Amino acid sequence: MDALVLFPQKHTASVVSIPTPTPGPGEVLIRIHAVAVNPVDQIYFDDPIAAQEKRVLGVDFAGEVMSRHGELDGVEDRRAISGERVAGFVQGANSVNDLPGAFAQYVAAPYDLLWSIPATLSYEEACTVSMCALTAAQAIFPRFGLPGPFFTPEDVSHPEPSTGTQEQGGDREDVVNVLINGSSTSLGYYAAQLIHIAASTSNRKFRLIGTARPSKHAFLAAAPYSYNHLFDYSDASWPRKVRDATGGVGVHYALDTISERDTVAKVHSTLNASGKYHVFRGQDGGMFRTADLSIKPVCGTVWEGLGNVVDYGGGLVFPAPPAARAFAVKFFEWLSSGVNDGTGNVVLQPNPVRKMPGGLERIVPDSFSLLSGLVSVRSAAGKENEGEVEEHMRPISGEKLVYTVE
Ligand SMILES: NC(=O)c1ccc[n+]([C@@H]2O[C@H](COP(=O)([O-])OP(=O)(O)OC[C@H]3O[C@@H](n4cnc5c(N)ncnc54)[C@H](OP(=O)(O)O)[C@@H]3O)[C@@H](O)[C@H]2O)c1
Repeated sequence: MDALVLFPQKHTASVVSIPTPTPGPGEVLIRIHAVAVNPVDQIYFDDPIAAQEKRVLGVDFAGEVMSRHGELDGVEDRRAISGERVAGFVQGANSVNDLPGAFAQYVAAPYDLLWSIPATLSYEEACTVSMCALTAAQAIFPRFGLPGPFFTPEDVSHPEPSTGTQEQGGDREDVVNVLINGSSTSLGYYAAQLIHIAASTSNRKFRLIGTARPSKHAFLAAAPYSYNHLFDYSDASWPRKVRDATGGVGVHYALDTISERDTVAKVHSTLNASGKYHVFRGQDGGMFRTADLSIKPVCGTVWEGLGNVVDYGGGLVFPAPPAARAFAVKFFEWLSSGVNDGTGNVVLQPNPVRKMPGGLERIVPDSFSLLSGLVSVRSAAGKENEGEVEEHMRPISGEKLVYTVE
């Protein structure tokens, strides 16, 4: 098969022919129809940590089940049956230890970490969901301890969401204040939808507050994102406005989907004294420090959901807690629910898609150049020469870069 292969020692990548993978126990072989590009793909291409001679790049994919390991004979789950349209994610070249990548014509993956794609979603739409949606879900459910149809907080010992009370028209009202900093990121789109799922499961009133450029506010105020308040992230006073929107109570749960430079301290300044916040980058990569912050952030890595130990080198090894894989299995079952119950319902709307021209060959020159650098810096810099570039090379703004794989 053809695959986009990273040669870590040479620090190059190109499309080459490599053996088609064979599914192992519990796995199916998927013919990939579309892949989505994530910032992390570019980060570990730019600064490889993979230790092998070659590694397949890429994380998010959607395609069709072609065959399965003999051990799965008799398994009736649709995701283990040839012809099923599925999406999922793999580690790519983002580790020292050898794990599969998605920028290829085929991938082998565990069937229970795939989800069945409803008929109304294209492969191009479906491939945007898996990694970022699971990242947001891990933060909101197991790490914050909010309830969802695929997660009961009793599974772990988390306290009830603590809310402030406030006077509103003479009535005392419990409201859970949630902030998503970076509402137009991929992570932000899924986080907002999942917060509404947590709200309806808990039967409590949530107030959803976000930051995005004003041109995105109408889109984000509408379903399925349905923000109650939105503020311009380029307005330096947005943290104060967020606190004001909570009636001075502060934010109980915040997701800093940017997690770069001063965004972490700004998000911290919006918090209620018992608030929790989640960052999605490490301190070095995101160039922030939390030593002086009174509340320390929650963080984690999405890869733990795949059940693989992940070695980042230099002694930094993330374990594979069985509970994290079990959560991912339940989450992907839930994503499949519209197919399984016959309604065809799409339970999470995919990211807006920017279909990129060319195939796997164009990922490095086009997408990796668009994704290069800090999210906040590329966003500001790219806007300056927006009118001078080809349509598909405009700065990324609230879209996922997607390739069709022939
Ligand atoms: N820890 C994990 O497991 C994990 C998993 C997934 C992602 N991540 C990380 O999470 C981050 C976000 O990833 P993503 O794929 O969701 O990003 P993305 O979709 O590429 O984000 C781009 C968006 O960010 C917005 N933005 C830029 N600077 C901003 C700021 N200062 N405040 C608010 N919004 C701003 C831009 O808005 P405008 O266009 O309006 O400027 C643009 O729409 C990345 O650093 C990624 O590496 C971590």
